[in-house]
Amino acid sequence: MTKYNSIFRDNLFQDRTILVTGGGTGIGRAISHELASLGAHIIIASRKLEKLEATAKEITDAGGKCSIYTLNIRNEDAINAMFDEMLNDHKTIHGLVNNAGGQFPSPAENINQKGWHAVIETNLTGTFLMSKTAYNRALKQNQGNIVNIVAEMWNGFPGMVHTGAARAGVSNMTKTLAVEWAKDGVRVNAVAPGVIHGHGITQYDPAFVESYVKMASADIPLKRMGTESEIASAVTFLLSPAAAYITGETLKVDGASSLWRKTWVIDNHQNSAKFDGFED
Ligand SMILES: NC(=O)c1ccc[n+]([C@@H]2O[C@H](COP(=O)([O-])OP(=O)(O)OC[C@H]3O[C@@H](n4cnc5c(N)ncnc54)[C@H](OP(=O)(O)O)[C@@H]3O)[C@@H](O)[C@H]2O)c1
Repeated sequence: MTKYNSIFRDNLFQDRTILVTGGGTGIGRAISHELASLGAHIIIASRKLEKLEATAKEITDAGGKCSIYTLNIRNEDAINAMFDEMLNDHKTIHGLVNNAGGQFPSPAENINQKGWHAVIETNLTGTFLMSKTAYNRALKQNQGNIVNIVAEMWNGFPGMVHTGAARAGVSNMTKTLAVEWAKDGVRVNAVAPGVIHGHGITQYDPAFVESYVKMASADIPLKRMGTESEIASAVTFLLSPAAAYITGETLKVDGASSLWRKTWVIDNHQNSAKFDGFED
């Protein structure tokens, strides 16, 4: 049995229903386990039923409450249909964790329009559509709140320009929605994970993972990758009443890697044109 030991107090989320997108795997799975262990009824949604079923079984076997819905967050009609079904089953939700996301590594010059759009639609548009729908259909009625998972993109995101742009967009959107929806007591925050050891990283090509992890870990001031639980506890804090006065914030959970880490090797070159306004 998969038991989750949260640092937070028992029953913190009693009588709360929280929707976690991409909750079947990785960081989303850890968030779902932690919130369920604190009494929340967890709803997990993503495209692949088998991932959702496996995590729901783990949570219910451990005594938690979990429901599942298949969903592609890129499709507004599918989101509305899923909310129809979910609100019919559960009346409302009190929280939304926009965790679903994905991207592929590539130098910027090789990304075509289709690949660019796919990553922007999942990570930026999908997060917006989920937030808007959850706000309109549930959260504004019960002072619920939202946490968005973004990424470490503070110095750009060399090697994944599409996701860097999308996540910077979500971080900015987090501020806008926090201000617009403050009138209803709806808080909107984000968590920016650094390099997290877990399911997500196994989705990439092993050669990429090996070089990326080696380079990333060497430069992280805390000298290790983060755990999925370390992201889950930050999300749990932001969803909880302990964060009642925090909104519009993006919390970095990255072992200070954003202050220090090199993410891209720049080959030696002499291609930088100089400017000198003086004429000899
Ligand atoms: N791991 C890291 O180092 C790291 C660092 C920074 C940020 N992040 C971000 O953290 C989040 C979780 O990542 P992870 O590492 O836990 O990876 P993961 O295990 O691959 O999780 C991604 C989840 O998103 C779901 N998903 C993807 N596209 C979707 C779509 N169009 N509609 C609905 N669900 C979708 C996937 O489920 P289905 O396939 O069933 O749809 C999957 O469960 C992602 O946004 C990721 O980019 C991760």
